[in-house]
Amino acid sequence: MIIAPSLLASKFDQFGREARRTQAAGADWLHLDIMDGHFVPNISFGPQVVKAVRPCAKKLVFDVHLMCWKPEILLEPFAQAGADRIIIHVELGDRVEPLIWKIRSLGKKVGLAINPPTAMSQVERFLPKIDQLLVMTVNPGFGGQPFITETLPKIQQAYDWRRERNLNFLIEVDGGITFETAADCAKVGADTFVSGTGLYGQPSLKRAISKMRKLVNQHSRTDDLKIEPKNGFLLAGS
Ligand code: DX5
Ligand code: ZN
Repeated sequence: MIIAPSLLASKFDQFGREARRTQAAGADWLHLDIMDGHFVPNISFGPQVVKAVRPCAKKLVFDVHLMCWKPEILLEPFAQAGADRIIIHVELGDRVEPLIWKIRSLGKKVGLAINPPTAMSQVERFLPKIDQLLVMTVNPGFGGQPFITETLPKIQQAYDWRRERNLNFLIEVDGGITFETAADCAKVGADTFVSGTGLYGQPSLKRAISKMRKLVNQHSRTDDLKIEPKNGFLLAGS
């Protein structure tokens, strides 16, 4: 199981320090939310910030979530800034396929995100081509929102498709992930947990990460699969 704290909920004036602290606290990945003020009604930070933070947490996988209307112009800058995995949204329609190939050609892992109101049928055909499916469990744009329970069947659907079709993408959840909702998501098949407020809001980040890890392991459905956190590979049956 992969724990990916979302830097957006850490101290904005101390990103370098916060990334170092996150690595020391035992996280697997660092989730970086990029908002362009257009795809979502908020602006966060860009590739220069990611580049500045990268040397502070060399061991963490950088999971870059692009909530942006024009990822075309951002893929190379984020790849060069040190992203290991780049997530784009299925709501971009016709542009999804070429974007997937572009991310691959940059040598990065490919993620596809789906917003709460979007039907799972939209992502179905891309599943054999991606490394992770990010099921948004809030409407993107802001940290600290409550988890939308109606998204749980989508996680279940992704899990069933993965098993039935022998695919190996990770199932990531993002938004309103607390100890309780992380366990709920693990029960229906999630294996990768993005959490901002739920982790950084706790008195000890280290204890919070190990508590969340323990809970999701306890409730995991993926006992027939092993995940190598550094690369996020799923090794079926091993
Ligand atoms: C939401 C972002 C999330 C956000 C999660 O737009 O994609 O990654 O940082 O924050 P919490 O865990 O506070 O809901
Ligand atoms: Zn995110």
